[in-house]
Amino acid sequence: MKIAIPKERHPQEARVAASPDTVKALVGLGAAVSVEKGAGQGAAMTDDAYKKAGASIAKDEKTALNGADVVLKVRRPMAEGEASDEFALMRKSAVVLALFDPMRDKAGVEAAAKAGTTAFSMELIPRITRAQSMDVLSSQANLAGYKAVLDAAAEFGRAFPMMMTAAGTIAPARALVMGAGVAGLQAIATARRLGAIVSATDVRPAAKEQVESLGASFVAVEDEEFKQAETAGGYAKEMSDAYKKKQAELIAETIAKQDVVITTALIPGRPAPKLIDEAMVKSMKPGSVIVDLAVETGGNCALSQAGKVVVKHGVKIVGHNNVPGRLAVDASALYAKNLLNFLKLIIDAESGELKIDWEDEIIKGTCITHDGKVVHPQLGGEAG
Ligand code: NAI
Repeated sequence: MKIAIPKERHPQEARVAASPDTVKALVGLGAAVSVEKGAGQGAAMTDDAYKKAGASIAKDEKTALNGADVVLKVRRPMAEGEASDEFALMRKSAVVLALFDPMRDKAGVEAAAKAGTTAFSMELIPRITRAQSMDVLSSQANLAGYKAVLDAAAEFGRAFPMMMTAAGTIAPARALVMGAGVAGLQAIATARRLGAIVSATDVRPAAKEQVESLGASFVAVEDEEFKQAETAGGYAKEMSDAYKKKQAELIAETIAKQDVVITTALIPGRPAPKLIDEAMVKSMKPGSVIVDLAVETGGNCALSQAGKVVVKHGVKIVGHNNVPGRLAVDASALYAKNLLNFLKLIIDAESGELKIDWEDEIIKGTCITHDGKVVHPQLGGEAG
């Protein structure tokens, strides 16, 4: 069985879908691994290291993908009419593992079906215990939460910790983390380590205890709706307009007292909830910093701009795209490990060949196209 790792074509993507460690493990499973020359460059993973791990280095993408049974990618392959047609280089029925962003990028899903690939969208890995080691959203969000705080510290003209010096005392920074999921909890822990006084908000009741266990205070409208506001999958629900109004009032009061705000609030498959309006930005002290981790799905702050750091009403608003990619080495290593763990599910350990159990809930939950069709129920396909 041949497994291919092409270089990412997206201009803002420094990550790579396999590390020398995971290549070694795949070779151990009996696979022939072909890595495109320079694929790991943005993540400090050299061709030499891949070679030592047992891969062959392909001179170009066409050679890497030629006849591959499995293709490992970070971003979904490009299609006809885009910068390069990667699907055209793949064999029909190739298994593709990538971040397809399928709820928003319908064209990518259609292209995967049209190309005849069996595509697995790694964002859809179910949040069940057995799949934790394959959970790319968690592995990447954790790093994004950490990096968001460092980005805030780099833009902030003051220190985070309290400092008592002969020249005077510096007050500690006050940081608010909005959305206490995987990214938010890591942001809380990182901001605390840097010495800030941290508070956090979320609409899921389960978040309260987690926030407090990290030494931050919890800020939320804790009414009846809040007590019910969690789906069976552990995700946030879209809240009612009445709740959003009460939440906005509480946040408005809180935000005016903050130096740093990190926003991480997401609702799967929907635009990010708007939590900070222009008046709230205006109420903050000059020199304060907002980092909007949700900027790529519309942003939690009304004034953030994707891919930019802007200054509005004296407040710096940071809207970097692809924040995990800003820590490409760790993000790639963890993403690659997630893919390896998923591959172990679909590669038969004895024969070293693909063996997909279509009844497995991880497979059913993740497969978006098969046999030329869109198959995922959430994408309008018929599972099976
Ligand atoms: P996410 O990335 O979808 O959203 C981030 C956070 O924003 C969530 O905590 C969400 O409740 C919050 N949020 C949404 N709307 C909001 C609003 N209007 N105001 C404030 N906050 C808002 O969530 P993530 O980080 O992917 O995790 C969701 C949950 O799943 C967490 O409880 C996490 O611990 C759990 N989880 C479970 C796993 C497992 O069992 N295998 C693996 C990973 C996460």
